[in-house]
Amino acid sequence: MTSGPQWQYDESRHAGVDYSDDAVVLDYDNRHTRFRDYEKEATRIIDALGLTKDSIVVDMGCGSGGLSVHFAKHCGKVHAVDVSPKMVELCGRKAGEQNLKNIETVCAGFLTYEHKGEPPDAIVSTAVLHHLPDFWKQVALRRMYEMLKPGGKLFLFDIVFNFPVDEYQNSIDGWLESIEKMGGKAMKDESVIHVKEEFSTWGWIMERMIEIAGFRIDINNSIQPNMQVYICSKT
Ligand SMILES: C[S@@+](CC[C@H](N)C(=O)[O-])C[C@H]1O[C@@H](n2cnc3c(N)ncnc32)[C@H](O)[C@@H]1O
Repeated sequence: MTSGPQWQYDESRHAGVDYSDDAVVLDYDNRHTRFRDYEKEATRIIDALGLTKDSIVVDMGCGSGGLSVHFAKHCGKVHAVDVSPKMVELCGRKAGEQNLKNIETVCAGFLTYEHKGEPPDAIVSTAVLHHLPDFWKQVALRRMYEMLKPGGKLFLFDIVFNFPVDEYQNSIDGWLESIEKMGGKAMKDESVIHVKEEFSTWGWIMERMIEIAGFRIDINNSIQPNMQVYICSKT
């Protein structure tokens, strides 16, 4: 999927959890469908961003489409984008089963997606940006800024660390314990891989990167330990 210079980051090579694997994708979809209420999550995002039946939305890193299908029921058009062909396929299947004609699935990512048509009113990205190292996160944020229409919104949810560095061992252990209580052992194992092999960063770095990309941060909320929501505007 990569083109361009030799040093271009290959976002199709999954760091950490391998979402190109069929079994991993089905397991992700099963577990997340069980413990998440996608409709409620989507409604909160739609309300927070003020989306309407005319809105154009990009769901960046849409995964198996749990949120995309709900956005499609309330918005004009949803571009569901993911680097994993298996995830994109499953999202497309869900859209087909629900007869949603306004979802377009695209196999691409933060660094490669080229938006066609009218610029989006909003980009939503939940639990995805940590797949890129910080250098590339900044590039991704700037690409999203450029993609949005003036006044457009970015809804970014991700795992971000805010504890003092000296407390990192206890903080991570405590966090993993709480994840196991909430989502079971499989979810804890996924989170161990997250800390070890993926690229979640510090809150202060994330905030600065969002601002340097050009956004104004309107809301910066910790919804659970280490889980941060940023609602940002293209000013
Ligand atoms: C933890 S899942 C989150 C999926 C979905 N947003 C959700 O809330 O359930 C992470 C997703 O990000 C995708 N992904 C990883 N790197 C990406 C990139 N550079 N650009 C777009 N999607 C990416 C993976 O394929 C996977 O589907």
